[in-house]
Amino acid sequence: MRQLLIGLLLAGSAAIGTADPLPTLNPGAWPALDTPFRALPQVEARIDALLRRMTLEEKVGQMVQAEIRFASPADVRDFHLGSVLSGGGSWPDGNPLSSPEDWRRLTGEYHNASLETRLSIPLLWGVDAVHGHNNVVGATLFPHNIGLGAANNARLMYEIGRATALETAATGIDWTFAPTLAVARDDRWGRTYESYSEDPATVARMGTAIARGLHGAQEPDNSVTGSLITTAKHFIGDGGTLAGTDRGDTLTNESTLRTRHASAYYATLNAGTQTVMASFSSWRGAKLHGGSYLLTTILRERMGFDGLVLGDWNGHEVIDGCKIRSCATAINAGVDMVMVPEHWRSFIYNTLEDVVTGAISAARVDEAVRRILRVKIRAGLFEKDLDKLPSASVVGSPEHRALAREAARQSLVLLKNEPPIPDQRIKHAPTSVREPVLPLRANQTILVAGNGADDLARQTGGWTVTWQGTDNPRVHYRGATSILEGISETVSRIGGTVVTDTKFRKSATPDVAVIVFGEEPYTEFFGDREHLEYNKYDRKSWRLLKRLHRKGIPTVAVFLSGRPMVVSQELLHADAFIAAWLPGSEGGAIADALFATDDFNFAGRLSFSWPKDAEQAAPNFDDDVYLPLFPVGYGLRYAANN
Ligand code: BGC
Ligand code: BGC
Repeated sequence: MRQLLIGLLLAGSAAIGTADPLPTLNPGAWPALDTPFRALPQVEARIDALLRRMTLEEKVGQMVQAEIRFASPADVRDFHLGSVLSGGGSWPDGNPLSSPEDWRRLTGEYHNASLETRLSIPLLWGVDAVHGHNNVVGATLFPHNIGLGAANNARLMYEIGRATALETAATGIDWTFAPTLAVARDDRWGRTYESYSEDPATVARMGTAIARGLHGAQEPDNSVTGSLITTAKHFIGDGGTLAGTDRGDTLTNESTLRTRHASAYYATLNAGTQTVMASFSSWRGAKLHGGSYLLTTILRERMGFDGLVLGDWNGHEVIDGCKIRSCATAINAGVDMVMVPEHWRSFIYNTLEDVVTGAISAARVDEAVRRILRVKIRAGLFEKDLDKLPSASVVGSPEHRALAREAARQSLVLLKNEPPIPDQRIKHAPTSVREPVLPLRANQTILVAGNGADDLARQTGGWTVTWQGTDNPRVHYRGATSILEGISETVSRIGGTVVTDTKFRKSATPDVAVIVFGEEPYTEFFGDREHLEYNKYDRKSWRLLKRLHRKGIPTVAVFLSGRPMVVSQELLHADAFIAAWLPGSEGGAIADALFATDDFNFAGRLSFSWPKDAEQAAPNFDDDVYLPLFPVGYGLRYAANN
């Protein structure tokens, strides 16, 4: 209710009706794309030939994407489905422990079923490979985007794209619903960690670089082995919603929508991204899925995007007059392929009826199918050879894990590093009081504790095997290393002792404490928060830091989170503080940073402003009055001689 009122007030003060943003529209201000693709006569002729032969049922089938839990290979054949997805927490036979070979077998069955249709039009399989091929147990898990934005290294992004594409293609999948190009502006949003930065320029640079890597080579033709079709999502303004509400309303004017939220689309589509996913959110009261202005007038006509527009998970359902099972409005607005995970069958029947009654024109159907076929042809799907997929052994390979460790190393941001404060009440005060607490020395007793120390769920975040990244037993993280394991491994190599009991019942008082703590995993609206004050959600971690600190034990805080949060209490009781985001499967990266092994030094810089207090939910680098605790670009380094 509060949000609704604020929404109405803001809309009112901008002198626009929520339902009708028309008065300020300025399509002429949106320049055309400059993509590597041209409308090739041979491709268009091939599409024409197919369209001439296709029945209406075959065409409408192409326009629907079902979920594998609700559509079998036989359904693909019988209903001419154009696409399936495996959503978060969806695996072959519902078995999370399916091997890469199991995935490969299943994707092969669906592919072959599509070839059994009258015109043998291959199906597209889409998956959320958003931080590696994250639905597959044993795959390499890279840091989530917020950490990659802090690393801010285009070359690294390209390599991550390559590795992810190889692991995904090895399971027979051609299409990832990535990169997310959201420019998250209010960090209370549950998808902030899927955003590279609050700064559109960083989002554009990272999105482009990973898309290039996912495509393979710097070529747009996707014909190399191990290349994916990419998705720019969620078009548009998903990161700009009021109060950071997921699927909420973005109230900016059109010029801000274009310059802030669209610039990464220009960059990434120009790098060859062929699909765009519509956003669940609204722009000034109008649902994106139902609005022809942004999907058709701008994206297709002004920008000249000629790939396919995909709806989000039942994203059409929320449009006035639509239902999960039927929605002419979304198709007429410009959604070419509708994601209807479960109720795809009735959606097909209802859409057929809409064409018969004229609610959707035959020309619009042809246009949508043309765009779908164009993407399939450009991606080389008609020539797909199941015997030429990358070997399943690339999934979670040592090379990819080394790359993920490097990515995690580069993503860490050092917010504080001071000499431990000697406490007079303590007999054995730290020996060297002038040196900053980090890097840690060898041959010490190190307490490693906190709710994130040995917790791969907190370390890898949402979109990990399951949709929410919750309910994962240890076997779901096959091949991963927790932060505690990483530290123990390093310490056993360089000398010293790791203890984990915070009461030191069986050990001497530790020389230093590394406390790893942070948010539990979440995805999408599950992660929306009313405020960002961390210790309102977890008081134990700062109490632990405080207790250790008061005992005179130097403390290092490692914070795992999907966003900056207010951590004043924790900062106060930590001599060093590392923002580690959601670093992924390679917990050894944290040890590298703590001990400065292999000449490690911090490269990460904040790509999001760090809030000062709970009143400050959304400081952003381009605010007129900008008073964050740490600004964008902030990040300390070790002194050069370390
Ligand atoms: C799916 C996810 C999807 C979500 C949307 C889940 O059941 O597995 O992939 O994003 O629903 O609500
Ligand atoms: C999310 C998308 C995702 C889709 C499929 C939706 O809930 O918003 O980002 O690609 O589900 O899992």
